[in-house]
Amino acid sequence: MNLLRKIITKTKRVKFFISLRMLYRSFGQNKKAIDAENFWKNKTNDKHEYGKLLLEDVKSTFGKNNVKSVIEFGANSGQNLEWFQDSYPGIKLTGIDINKVVKNPETKWSNYKGIIGNQNILKSLENNSFDIAFTMSVLDHIGKRDEVILAINELSRISNKLYLLEPYIEGVDGDVSNLTRAEVKEGLPNPRKIFAKHSYLWNYYDIFDSLNLSVKSKKMPLHIHSLGPFYYLFEVNKF
Ligand SMILES: C[S@@+](CC[C@H](N)C(=O)[O-])C[C@H]1O[C@@H](n2cnc3c(N)ncnc32)[C@H](O)[C@@H]1O
Repeated sequence: MNLLRKIITKTKRVKFFISLRMLYRSFGQNKKAIDAENFWKNKTNDKHEYGKLLLEDVKSTFGKNNVKSVIEFGANSGQNLEWFQDSYPGIKLTGIDINKVVKNPETKWSNYKGIIGNQNILKSLENNSFDIAFTMSVLDHIGKRDEVILAINELSRISNKLYLLEPYIEGVDGDVSNLTRAEVKEGLPNPRKIFAKHSYLWNYYDIFDSLNLSVKSKKMPLHIHSLGPFYYLFEVNKF
């Protein structure tokens, strides 16, 4: 009897410590996700020309004239949307970002609206109200899987076609910040290179499946650093 009581007490103690650890980890993950948002709120993105890659793909699918409205989630100061501005005169452009620099293009483009907010603000937009929605290197900086799923679900709801230009490594899901490539997965190129802080990888195929979305994807490496070699362009459709 005594022995039984001892075993139960020990089991209870072990369970208690496990739940304490899980609680601590989930606090840690929450804190990291909040840190990531705070980091991006105050950063103007470096100049690049990756928007051109997306534009070329869009043009080959839609042709020269069939795009009337585009929304970018995580647009920063609008450098990707500028490619659409130059190629589709009169197009309606919308940028969403947690960083207030998303408002900057309003001073130069009358057909542009910048909205400060995160994935939750997408809920206020109408179904199918944009020809195209896209993200470029944004979901890899959101620290919570359910928030990434929310963003993808909402973006596909408000648009006719969704593009995600985001990094993906098969079998890896979650936080890879400050880890070496070797620690994340065996066989990656340059295994000693380290992923930058606030870097997250998500299993997009599982997410698309769970949201009943179909996808075509192709590799689109952007640069050699951090997550750069692992980018894919996902072209997402509702059926
Ligand atoms: C690496 S930058 C990419 C910016 C832009 N897409 C580009 O390609 O130049 C990531 C952007 O995502 C924004 N971001 C991060 N988390 C976000 C969130 N939860 N909701 C909206 N924007 C977010 C950041 O503020 C930042 O502007």
